[in-house]
Amino acid sequence: MKKGSIIEVKIEDIEFPAKGIGYVNGLKVFAKNAFPGQVVKGRVSKKRREYAEIKVLEVVEKAEYEIEPMCDHHGVSGGCIQQVIPYEKQLEFKTDEVKKLFEESNVTMGKFLGIESSPEINHYRNKMEYSFGDEVKGGELNLGMHMVNKRNGIVNIDKCCLTDDDFEIVCKATVNYFREKGLPFYKVMQREGYLRHLVIRKAKKTGEIIVNLVTTTQIDFDLSEYVEIIKNLDYKGTLKSIIHTENNSFSDAVIPEKINILYGEDHITEELLGLKFKISPFSFFQTNSEGAEKLYSIVRDFMGDASNKVVFDLYCGTGTIGQIAAGKAEKVVGVELIEEAVVAANENAKLNNLENCNFIAGDVAEVIKTIKDKPDIIILDPPRSGVHPKAMEYVVKFNPKQIIYVSCNPKTLVEDLKALQIGGYEIEKTVLMDMFPHTPHVETVVNLNKK
Ligand SMILES: C[S@@+](CC[C@H](N)C(=O)[O-])C[C@H]1O[C@@H](n2cnc3c(N)ncnc32)[C@H](O)[C@@H]1O
Repeated sequence: MKKGSIIEVKIEDIEFPAKGIGYVNGLKVFAKNAFPGQVVKGRVSKKRREYAEIKVLEVVEKAEYEIEPMCDHHGVSGGCIQQVIPYEKQLEFKTDEVKKLFEESNVTMGKFLGIESSPEINHYRNKMEYSFGDEVKGGELNLGMHMVNKRNGIVNIDKCCLTDDDFEIVCKATVNYFREKGLPFYKVMQREGYLRHLVIRKAKKTGEIIVNLVTTTQIDFDLSEYVEIIKNLDYKGTLKSIIHTENNSFSDAVIPEKINILYGEDHITEELLGLKFKISPFSFFQTNSEGAEKLYSIVRDFMGDASNKVVFDLYCGTGTIGQIAAGKAEKVVGVELIEEAVVAANENAKLNNLENCNFIAGDVAEVIKTIKDKPDIIILDPPRSGVHPKAMEYVVKFNPKQIIYVSCNPKTLVEDLKALQIGGYEIEKTVLMDMFPHTPHVETVVNLNKK
């Protein structure tokens, strides 16, 4: 087997995040987004003495449990690859994958409480980021998702199983308008062009929509006609805001160098567990609102009776978990890197008549040293990279009785749990919450107590 060769492999096992495992002549072969029971054909992308990795080109034989995909783009766009797996089976795989990570790291889950399903399995996303591009070089302008196994191809998304109709009508109107105007999309390699991304957010509970068009400033284009078109679409929800973000950076990420409000306000409002949350265009907010209610309820239950307790909400985003805790706690202190999210968190606390919350902007690893309060409970909800070792040192030094760790990446979670165990914490219980049906991702919530 050589790098670049095409091989067939039967998938026998799976590991996080949805990496199928098979064997060819005794060599372990990993295939991303391949599932036990499938026979897949793929190109070898990595070859080592102990293992190989392939990029799947085709499912040669389906697994016996597979169902028909809902979406026409299945297999072309990469976002929702697991829709051919029945939902119960998706939950089973995610559970096995996370359990295996704990076992291999020799970290206990404590009492394992199973996996909670997402309240909505389809159309659950409240945010989507689409890219402008073409499907084949020189083809017509598209607006949609990156194609699987094709570096620069963008497939137009007319119907998507992750979002609702309001996302689709905005996408359709946007791509039609800019096709008619003949405006070029931005080519990352050449660093040339105008249209980059379209980011849509729709608060599921309030129906409020924010449309954010991201372009370079290479062309001075008057967007007033586009604004009128977007304003006059027939929405199920309510359009609250149209934003133009200027981004001339070389990276393909959405980087807001300048934000121009073209219509309405600079935020939308979502409701979770009876509280209101302002969501600004670039602050983190869980992408599955109903799932978030379930996730935060788990955290609230794990906290138990928090009256007279001081709670730290580290990596707090717009302060959602902290404010849900604040109803019970004596005081909540939140820390978050994105300043805009902290401004929103403090405004949200006012909006929700919570006077016992203080949200601070900065890097947890730095800010944590300066906090004078003494926490009874620390809630950790870090990004995929986990808790920085410097921050972890202070978490342990604060010596709280209880730590609740909410993680979107079980790989970094198990490493951080090892550090907390060394710091004198005992894992009492673990539960999984599926916030992302049809994708490989899953949230894990762990409750730890000081020994
Ligand atoms: C998984 S999100 C959790 C947000 C929030 N708890 C929620 O449920 O909406 C992680 C958050 O950590 C923030 N973040 C990332 N690195 C950070 C750091 N070094 N210090 C503080 N916050 C950070 C991100 O901006 C993001 O809002």
